This record gives sequence, structure tokens and C-alpha cells, in this order.
Amino acid sequence: MTTPLARNNLEQRLIDHIAQYGPITFQAFMEAALYDEVYGYYPSRRNQSGSTPVGTDGDYFTSPSSHPAFGALLALQLDEMWRYMGSPSEFTIVEMGAGDGVLSADISQYISQELPKFAKSASYIATDLAPRSNSTSVVQTSRLPTGITGCVISNELLDAFPVNRFIVQNGEVREIYVDYRDGIFVESIGDVSEPEIAARVDPFLGSLPENYRGEVNLRIGYWADSVAATLARGYVITIDYGNDRPRLYKPARAEGSLRCYYQHTLSRTPLNRIGKQDITAHVDFTAVDHTLGVMGFSRIGKPSQQQFLLNLGIDGFLNDIEQRAVSRELSRSESQEDLAGIGSLIDPEGLGRFRVVVHSKGVEVDGEPSQPLSGIKGGKPDTPGHKAPTLNQASVEHARLLRASNPFTQDHPQTGVMPSWEDLFSDEP
Ligand SMILES: C[S@@+](CC[C@H](N)C(=O)[O-])C[C@H]1O[C@@H](n2cnc3c(N)ncnc32)[C@H](O)[C@@H]1O
Repeated sequence: MTTPLARNNLEQRLIDHIAQYGPITFQAFMEAALYDEVYGYYPSRRNQSGSTPVGTDGDYFTSPSSHPAFGALLALQLDEMWRYMGSPSEFTIVEMGAGDGVLSADISQYISQELPKFAKSASYIATDLAPRSNSTSVVQTSRLPTGITGCVISNELLDAFPVNRFIVQNGEVREIYVDYRDGIFVESIGDVSEPEIAARVDPFLGSLPENYRGEVNLRIGYWADSVAATLARGYVITIDYGNDRPRLYKPARAEGSLRCYYQHTLSRTPLNRIGKQDITAHVDFTAVDHTLGVMGFSRIGKPSQQQFLLNLGIDGFLNDIEQRAVSRELSRSESQEDLAGIGSLIDPEGLGRFRVVVHSKGVEVDGEPSQPLSGIKGGKPDTPGHKAPTLNQASVEHARLLRASNPFTQDHPQTGVMPSWEDLFSDEP
């Protein structure tokens, strides 16, 4: 007979709840595992001193943690948006899911250092569902403003929303719930808890094999509502990994896109390490379009992150760093760290594969449509004449890891699986 493991408070609450009410949806489980106020992954990691989910001592890398050039190029894009909207006297940038506030600091700093005209009109509000309790730069989502002119931006927010999971059985969409039996959390299969889950998958059922698994992100609708309440006029930049629906629910992705990250290792076992590992799923960009579309936003582009940053002139930043190495303004080792960090943002096998989805509403000036944005259409890059930002001492270690070209290669033998980008995206063409 196996002895049940000692349970933490969150696990015990889940067990008690399941004992009383029966299996819970995966969405409810993921909500608790990631966002429980005390034991959830994000609040608990943020409120441990010196701990962060992102970066070298965390569980995964994001673009802002890789190099400040990411924020600088977005600042150039935001400046152009402001100009194309007729240089309104107030242009508010609202970041949702700002995490530790790295991107907000990078964008704000670049605007104030390099874009003085825009700086007079621009303000930045960084929000998160679970900000660090002592953070002054990132505030609770309850403090989102309303009716702004400007831009709502997010990086890897939507892939962190709790999802429902489904499985195809006997040609029907069934839901995967979380149950607790014989001392362990297990999956159980039942009818769908919301008709929308089956409705999203039904058009693809004919091509999906038996036991095909996937996820449905119903929270995107709530997010679109809050974007619409926040932004009266302007742009929405949504940066994430995902696909339009026909590619999300393609037969080759038979195990779905759910992934767990723990200390730079990857698994597909969300019922383990509850509250200690991150859980994500690829974003359904069709749902992003539909839900924002209902609120009056139109998609104006969806370039890969690589294309978007190249269009904005990331090459100019690489050249600038090289020139400053030649003139000895930067040491050879400093410039190498910077080149590696900037390069990782456009790595076609890594962060470069993310999508930058841009929507707009009411951006016409005097009835004329706004000009196409540089990040989307390319053309004249925005970087010439602007200095590339460089890594500060504290972030140099990130670049060192990234230089190995795979951000997940940090060695943690005790956790087993060593993911590569190929593991992550092997079902991609
Ligand atoms: C994967 S992290 C990304 C953090 C940061 N944007 C970055 O790029 O490093 C996802 C973040 O979204 C936040 N989040 C999740 N759901 C949210 C919601 N409904 N509203 C605001 N923030 C949310 C989480 O607390 C977490 O900080």
C-alpha cells in the first residue's frame, strides 16, 4: 500500500473540494495552481524574497528578460503610433500581465532617453493580477484605467490564462477534469462544462484522431472586455506564442499544447508540483480576433517577433553595438553579451517564433486611415540615429545562458527532462 504524500495547504484544499463536490475543471485547477493568493505559483514566487519566476534563477525566459532592446524597439513602435494618431497630448501605454515590470522599465527608460517629444505625451501604467506585494512600479489589475487614448500591450499574458482541456472520444468532444483518487491527483473524463468548449473544436472534429487532446481558452473573452474598457482609441499589441485556430487544432498536435516549466525544464505533467511550476498553453489567435473584433478592434497585422523586430531595425542595434565595441566604448565581452541577448530576440528557433498581433480602433486622423506601422509593413527602420540599449551588470548572466542558443539548457539533472525549442515546437512546420 502506498502512503499518501504530505500535502501542502493548497493541495489539501483541492482534495477537500473534490471530496465534497466532485472533479473540478482543469481551468479551476490551473487557476488555483498559478494564482492562489498564497500558494499559487505566481504569488508565491513573487513574494519569496529574491525570487522571481522569470530569468536565470526562475523557471523560464521571456523577451524582456533577454535584452532591453526588446523594450527599446517597442518604444520606437509606440512613438510611431503616437505620431500616426496625430500626436495626441496624452498617450497612455497600459501593460497587462507586466510581471516584475522589466518591460515597462525598459520602454519607459528608452522613451525618456531617446524620444523626448513623445516623452512629453507618454505615460505608462504597468498592471498584473499578482504583482509583487512591495512593487511600486507594477499595480494590481483592479487599478486599470478606463477610456484611454494610447496602447494596451502584453507579453506572454494570454498563454498564462487558465484553460479547459478536452479529449476526443468516439468522435465527440469530452472534457478532461481533475480528480483525486487513491492519494494522487488524476485526470477524469466527463461531459463538457461549457457548450463553448465543444463549439470551438467541433469544426475540426472530422480531422482529429481518437484521443486527441487540446485546450480551450475561454478567458480571452474577459481579457478582450477589459481591453475595450481600458482603450477608447488606439492600438493593442499582443505578443505570445500561438496559432490561428485551424493550426492550433491540427491533427499532428495530438497531445495539445499544454506545457509546464520548472527551473528551465519542460514537462507535460500539470498535476505534479502544484503551485511550484508554471503552466502555459499556446494562444488561440482566432479567439483573440473574434473577441476583440466584437469590441470594435480590427487586426492590422500578425508578424512573427523576428519579422517585427527586423522591420523596426534590430539590425541597426546590432551594428551600433559592434561599432561601440570597435571604438572601445564597450568591452569585447560586454558587446558579446549584448549581441547574444539581442540575437536571441529574433532567433527563428526560439523567441523569434512568437507572434506580435496588432489590433487598432479609432486611429484615423481627420477621417483618413492611419499609415501602416513599420513593425508590420517594414520599409524604413526606426533605429538609425538611436542608440542601442545595453545589458546592465545584473542582467548579463541571462545573456550568457542565452548564448547557448537554447534558453532551457540550464542543467537541473534532478528534474529529468531537458527541453529544447524543438521539444517545444516539434509539432510545428
Ligand atoms: C508568463 S508571465 C509574463 C510576465 C511578463 N509579461 C514577462 O514577459 O516577463 C504572465 C503574467 O501574467 C499575469 N497574469 C495572469 N493572468 C492575468 C490577468 N488576468 N490580468 C493581469 N495579469 C495576469 C501573471 O501574474 C504573470 O505575471
